[in-house]
This record gives sequence, structure tokens and C-alpha cells, in this order.
Amino acid sequence: MTAPLAGLRWGLGPGWLLRLKRCRRSAPWDLGIRSSASGKELLGLFSLNNDILLQSCRNYQAVLCTELTKPLIIRNLPSPSLQPHEVRVGVRYCGVNFADILACKGLYQTKHCLPFTPGMEFSGMVMETGANVSTVQEMLWPIPEGVSYEEAAALPVSYGTAILALDHRARTQPGETVLVTAAAGATGLAAIDVAANVLKAKVIAAAGSDYKCNLALQKGAAHSVNYTQGSLKEGVKKLTDNRGVNVVLDAVGGDIFKEALHSLAWEGRIVVVGFAGGAIPSVPANLLLLKNVSALGVFWGRYREEDFPVFSSSLSSALWYCQERRIQPHVGAVFKLEEVNEAFSRVTQRKSTGKVVISMK
Ligand SMILES: NC(=O)c1ccc[n+]([C@@H]2O[C@H](COP(=O)([O-])OP(=O)(O)OC[C@H]3O[C@@H](n4cnc5c(N)ncnc54)[C@H](OP(=O)(O)O)[C@@H]3O)[C@@H](O)[C@H]2O)c1
Repeated sequence: MTAPLAGLRWGLGPGWLLRLKRCRRSAPWDLGIRSSASGKELLGLFSLNNDILLQSCRNYQAVLCTELTKPLIIRNLPSPSLQPHEVRVGVRYCGVNFADILACKGLYQTKHCLPFTPGMEFSGMVMETGANVSTVQEMLWPIPEGVSYEEAAALPVSYGTAILALDHRARTQPGETVLVTAAAGATGLAAIDVAANVLKAKVIAAAGSDYKCNLALQKGAAHSVNYTQGSLKEGVKKLTDNRGVNVVLDAVGGDIFKEALHSLAWEGRIVVVGFAGGAIPSVPANLLLLKNVSALGVFWGRYREEDFPVFSSSLSSALWYCQERRIQPHVGAVFKLEEVNEAFSRVTQRKSTGKVVISMK
């Protein structure tokens, strides 16, 4: 698909995707785009690293991790000149992800060279496009009418992962029962939303406090288990009349994963999404055999390289469901850029619910 070039700016129609033909390694932006009523390009969504906090053509404020495990600092940096294949973005909101925090501790699977700007997703507006940005395809996702910047920044990682895990990997069917652990977290609430409201499954939410359990119930779960108050396995047994659940989405790992594995019904599927609790469990293979169950993994970001259509479709679906109001991302807290360390602490202290976002306003 091609688009007309108009100087340094594009007139993009809704639904068009902009491809950066040769992304520089130092600034690989993946952006989403939409047209506003005024004809400006508004965009949002996903970036793997760095250089995304561009606010003006001369300078931009960047959050920098200069030393692992130390507080982040904010610097005013001169904007680099735009390369022919690049796009300059005015960022409106960034989503904070568990992976950002791991990256700043040097614990994420992808290692960054210091200093770096953490961040994986954002929404914003195209300020300027390079001369060689000539095709409209693949790398940018339009934010549809009716989806706010705040919502757009909260969608990509959590909803992309939830859709991929529950639909593409676990093939969740209407009427099946889905157990979601860390249910009030960003991935957890997204999974509840997708399972209950898109896939029409019945959700059991498992979380670490009554407050979080109640939130999960408000967001579409049919039942909840507070796993700090007793055994998850026993709680699920009671709620399912000993049958167990068809699908588990687990983002905690450790003993919670093991209890969730034991909670599967015949031909159940457990999807490993993360290890927020810190411990990576091992899978007793006999359990897979006994009940004919499957253990699956999901690394959403990897789909971008291995199977782009599936990756892209998870994002486009999230945006579309949101526009249709079939899903509604829960933004639990909004911080200013200068409060980025507080935003990170909110997540690490297990106090966040849904997505924490940073506002650039
Ligand atoms: N595979 C992928 O592609 C993918 C995509 C997104 C996220 N993830 C991973 O999924 C996990 C959850 O991500 P998220 O964005 O949903 O995070 P989040 O919003 O911060 O939620 C994490 C939840 O995990 C629970 N938890 C249990 N033990 C914890 C501990 N020791 N420290 C902190 N939290 C703990 C907490 O809920 P309770 O208090 O209710 O237990 C917390 O709310 C992370 O490991 C993340 O890296 C993976």
C-alpha cells in the first residue's frame, strides 16, 4: 500500500499503517497513526526502545536509566536530526510495564546498553516524517476514533498479550472457564476483559488481596480467589465442582503456577506469560500426561519478528475491540514524567492495578 507524499508531512487516512522502511537500530520506532478531524496525524502504540520521548523539534525530555537498579533521571536532550527513514513523534502517554522495571535492573531477557530510555508502548502524534518514509504499512497502528490517547497507550502490551495468549495460543472457546492469576495487574485485567467480553468465557480471577479480587469482579470475572488467604487449587476446585478450569493465564510463576497447573481440567491449557513473583517454576511432565493438558508459552514481543501478521493482528484487534467498547482498558494511575520513579515504585510494590501510565502533558 502506498500513500501520497506531501513534503515532510503525510495526509494519512484512517486505517492506514505507516512503515519505516529501514529503521535505525538506535531509534526503531513502531508507531500507530490516526487522522484527526484537523487532518493532523495522531499516532500511538509501540516502541522497543529509546528516543521516543520527543516533544519538540529542538529538544526533548528523556527519562534515562544511567545505572542499573538506581533511580531514573530526566534529561533535556537536543533532538537528533531526522533521518530519511525516521518519524518524529510527540508522545502523549507511555505505558509502564513490568518489563521496563526488569530492564532497569538488568533482569530482562533483552539487555540494553547504558544509558537507555525504558519504554515499550506509547500514544502520540507524528510531528515530522523523513523523506524516505514512503509506504504505509505494517509498523504503525492507527488509533481509531473514540479511543483516547490514554487508552491507546494502555492497550498494546497487555491486550496484545492477552489476545495472543487466550485466543491464538489457548484457543479459548465460548463457555470455557479461564483462570487468570495476578488478575488485577495490567495483563490480568486485560485478560479478564478479553476472556469475558470478547471470547465469552467464564473467568475466575486470582489475586493477592480482597481489594484486587473485587476489582477483578467489577471488571468481568465471575468468581475470585485471594491466594494470600488459602490454597488457589482448593479455591478453584470449590468454584468448579472439582472439574477444574479449561484455560489458565499465569503471570506470577512459582507456587502459584504449580497450583494453577493442578487446577486444569481434562485437556486444559496453561499459558505461561510471566514470573512477576520472581520464581521460574518447572513443569512436572506427568501432570501433562495424566489429564492430557498442555503447557504453552507466550512472548508477545517475539511475534513481531517471528510472525508479524499475528503480532499486528493482536494490536489491531485490541484497538478495534476498544473502539467498539467491547473492552475497556483500566488505567489505575497516571503519573507525570518527573514522577517516573514513583510510577515504577507503584508497580514494584505491588500496589498498582491495571496499567500505570505516564502523561507528557
Ligand atoms: N510474555 C509476555 O509477552 C508478557 C507480556 C506482558 C507482561 N508479561 C509479564 O507478566 C508479568 C505481569 O506483568 P504485568 O504488566 O501484568 O504486571 P503488573 O501489572 O505489575 O502486575 C503484576 C502482578 O503480579 C503479582 N505479583 C505476585 N508476586 C509479585 C511480586 N513479588 N512482585 C510484584 N508483583 C507480584 C501482583 O498481583 P497480586 O498482588 O494480586 O499477586 C502484581 O499486581 C510480568 O512478569 C511481565 O514481565 C509478559
